Amino acid sequence: MCGIIGYTGVKKALPVLLDGLAKMEYRGYDSAGVAVIHNGEIEVRKAKGRLAELCKLTEGDALLDGNCGIGHTRWATHGQPSVENAHPHLSPDGRIALVHNGIIENFAEIKNELLQKGYPFRSQTDTEAALLLICSHYAGDPLDAIAASCAEIKGSYAFAIIFADFPDRLYVARWDSPLLVSPGYAASDAIALAGKCEDAAFIKNGDIAEITSDSVTIYDRALHKVDRPFLPLAVRAEQVGKGNYSSFMEKEISEQPAVFTETVVKRISDGNISFPEINNFDGVYLNNLRKIFISACGSAYHVGLCGKYYFESVAKIPTEVEIASEFRSRDVLVDKDTLFIVISQSGETADTLAALRIAKEKGARTLAIVNVRGSTISREADYVIFTEAGPEIAVATTKAFTAQLGIISLLSLYFGYTKGTIDQSGLRSLLHEITAVPAEIESALPELEHSKKTAESLKDAHDVFFLGRGLDWYAALEGSLKLKEISYIHSETYAAGELKHGSIALIEQGTPVIVVATQPSLYDKMAVAAAEVKCRGAQIIAITAAENEKLINLADDAMIIPEAYPLFAPFGAVVFMQMLACECAKLRGFDVDKPRNLAKSVTVE
Ligand code: G6P
Repeated sequence: MCGIIGYTGVKKALPVLLDGLAKMEYRGYDSAGVAVIHNGEIEVRKAKGRLAELCKLTEGDALLDGNCGIGHTRWATHGQPSVENAHPHLSPDGRIALVHNGIIENFAEIKNELLQKGYPFRSQTDTEAALLLICSHYAGDPLDAIAASCAEIKGSYAFAIIFADFPDRLYVARWDSPLLVSPGYAASDAIALAGKCEDAAFIKNGDIAEITSDSVTIYDRALHKVDRPFLPLAVRAEQVGKGNYSSFMEKEISEQPAVFTETVVKRISDGNISFPEINNFDGVYLNNLRKIFISACGSAYHVGLCGKYYFESVAKIPTEVEIASEFRSRDVLVDKDTLFIVISQSGETADTLAALRIAKEKGARTLAIVNVRGSTISREADYVIFTEAGPEIAVATTKAFTAQLGIISLLSLYFGYTKGTIDQSGLRSLLHEITAVPAEIESALPELEHSKKTAESLKDAHDVFFLGRGLDWYAALEGSLKLKEISYIHSETYAAGELKHGSIALIEQGTPVIVVATQPSLYDKMAVAAAEVKCRGAQIIAITAAENEKLINLADDAMIIPEAYPLFAPFGAVVFMQMLACECAKLRGFDVDKPRNLAKSVTVE
């Protein structure tokens, strides 16, 4: 969702700001803008739509020739996407400009008060209320004005602010929305700073910072100076490029074997698993655990579903899974005897964060599986395990999903062994199988040519069905989500046995049905399900192993997954479905990295 970049220093600010905004495009946005201080005046330029529009608008604009400025990509929440509502917002006297990520919950009250005092509002945004509040408090000292305003604001915010009276300074403040600072720079996402600075500090809730070209001074909400640790940026500039690939999604799909090795295989040695992050989860704790509860959104939720399968079948721990937004909507039974796991690539998803906080309040021990270091979820959970997917730029997740699934499956082995549900030799053989996953994914990648052919047969479909059972049902849910997200083809996923309870009525002559069957124990049942839809006219695309002849003979098209141990076979199947979705989207002429209406990191409820 929204992205913030700020710069002050000896370079021209505009190219730095535009580059930072370009690096955050992946987050999703619908308008963009910059404000630069030039000869003591603040100049603002904003454009609706893609960043390219803003680049066109600002090209050669001599009034933007200054060395200090702020930039923003906006994802509309209050007020439609428009130039008026885009950030930066400029004060009526033109002396203060502000960009904001987050939501000001009491903006209506603030706005009413300011309207009564005669402050004019030009947009429908909640952000403008924050800007005008700062104006109303400003009497020459930016820090005082920001601190007084933040004390009145409820909700979440990361602000970057420039004052014409202080033409070489950036001011920032945060509450529940991430913000990194470094001498000369501020940004809401480490990716925006890649290649610009070596290290940066995440400021904390309530912090306000003043940034010059060579210094950062951080204050708490009472304006006492505080120290925050500066850490090396985890993102390198080359990781934010496409390399030889035509899209980030294709690059990220291809990175999965390496990501799995980094995330999972590196934790295995001499028949043992190393999880130093949770080494106090001993047998007594795990045996007394009443349940595991997993909460997440989107693809991470699908990982949670697989987690339930793994924890129950391997570690014999009852496990519940709930979409995070639903978790917030009912009184869930979670207590001190629950291990509450949240899964999130970004570590910023608002619903997942809220679920984590509720679970903590209820006394549960919380564990986060997160990709982005320094993210809010990773800092608030009691325990955190990082996936090593590196920066994931394409909006539709691929490698982060695989990394999360890798961690969840390895955790189930770790818990099972620690609890005693699997013995040393059982563990050894499971570790041998899981270590083979990178090679299995690697061998699925050349099937790209096949995906292209299969995509040809799907590209004009109106509706596609996915079928699976057990782990394959969850894998199919992920395949279906990928197809919807980037190719905009409607698809539904059914547990194969459930299809005949109504939905089979929708199968017509030529309806594509993708049958995922990676579990030998379920081959026969899946063949029956496929036969049922085939005789009603379905076009069957099987994703299965070569030995599943029954299904392959029935199918119109079969994508043969590499041979794998059943527990870990869905990894290869998901990679096929990622490639299929990607090829469908390309054939239909869509930008696979930036699907419409979707944000990479959903930081609002
Ligand atoms: C958005 C993205 C999905 C992602 C979900 C959860 O909806 O478009 O691809 O799976 O958020 O994101 P998270 O960062 O929490 O994993």
